[in-house]
Amino acid sequence: MLYLQAMEYKDPEIAKVAKTLRDKYKKLEDKRAILRTPEIGALYERIKTLPAGKVRAEFGREVNELKAELEQLVRKSRTSNIEHRTSIDVTAPFDVNTPLDERPQLLTADQGSRHPLTAEQEIILDIFSRMGFTAVESLELDDDYHMFGSLNFPPDHPARDDYDSFVTDEGLIAPAHTSTMQNRVLKQYKSNLESDQPIAVVIPGRTFRNEDVDTTHEHTLYQLEGIYVDKGIHAGHLMATLKAFLEEYYEKQIEIKTQPFYFPFTEPSFEFAISCPFCGRAGCQICKQTGWIELLGCGLIHPNVLKEAGVDPAQYTGFAWGLGTMRLVMMKYGIEDIRHFQSGNLKFLRQFS
Ligand code: DAH
Repeated sequence: MLYLQAMEYKDPEIAKVAKTLRDKYKKLEDKRAILRTPEIGALYERIKTLPAGKVRAEFGREVNELKAELEQLVRKSRTSNIEHRTSIDVTAPFDVNTPLDERPQLLTADQGSRHPLTAEQEIILDIFSRMGFTAVESLELDDDYHMFGSLNFPPDHPARDDYDSFVTDEGLIAPAHTSTMQNRVLKQYKSNLESDQPIAVVIPGRTFRNEDVDTTHEHTLYQLEGIYVDKGIHAGHLMATLKAFLEEYYEKQIEIKTQPFYFPFTEPSFEFAISCPFCGRAGCQICKQTGWIELLGCGLIHPNVLKEAGVDPAQYTGFAWGLGTMRLVMMKYGIEDIRHFQSGNLKFLRQFS
């Protein structure tokens, strides 16, 4: 509501236009339109027709006053609108001023589908289950001992920098790899060894890194850790196990190659690459024309890691790996950007439903 004192105009013509415009103003939806009405323009035109002198000056002054009155009305209407405007619901997935028929349609639950990573992880776990592996889920919050100490990272060792992750105020770590579960799993399943059974466990999990995000790097990654311990286990078992898994997953023959690497928790350690399952080594965008894809880190479990979990390294040896699940899935479908997975982009997700 406006409580402006209406101006009084001596000139009868101006007084009449003022009344007309005030009535018009009340009915206008866009209040600013009052400043563009032809009546005001006509009054300005009239000034020019009056004889120069006192009458013309007085008329001109009153026209200006009327214009000022209207401008003030418009200004006041804006501020009073602000006071009466309802606050914006910042949680709405669209601007609340968007007309009903232009708003994005919300999906009902029955229109949803499983995320491609969930679906693929099920396939992966099924293959490993048929190969005799048990699955144990990784934690999403862990401590320094499991992240580093139990994995043979000496205190202050620079290798810790490769696992730069997020830390809570209480000092808990959002784990940068699923290897953080190795000590627990070895302890939990070491009784297998006493009854001449191997320890064969895969550990799917979500891991976190302080990472510059781009097409191949994410801050939140899905990994699949694998551990196998028994008497007489060597690197040949490791290569054969991973090759068998990959050929089952990609449903084709895969070539593998390794090169020496360093992890504190394996000795020897390897970087493991496969022939590009997308182009079969011909060279494509996915493998950056190299024909090979680096897929995981692996090695023979370091004796100190076994010892720390109470497994005698003089009797038993084992292998372990940490596989980037997202990369594995990207290679299967030719997904060119790792960020698609967690983008929530329906155009991407619907291709898998
Ligand atoms: N944890 C390593 C990483 O995320 C990957 C890895 C390497 C896991 C060797 C292993 C392993 O279990 O033996 O970079």
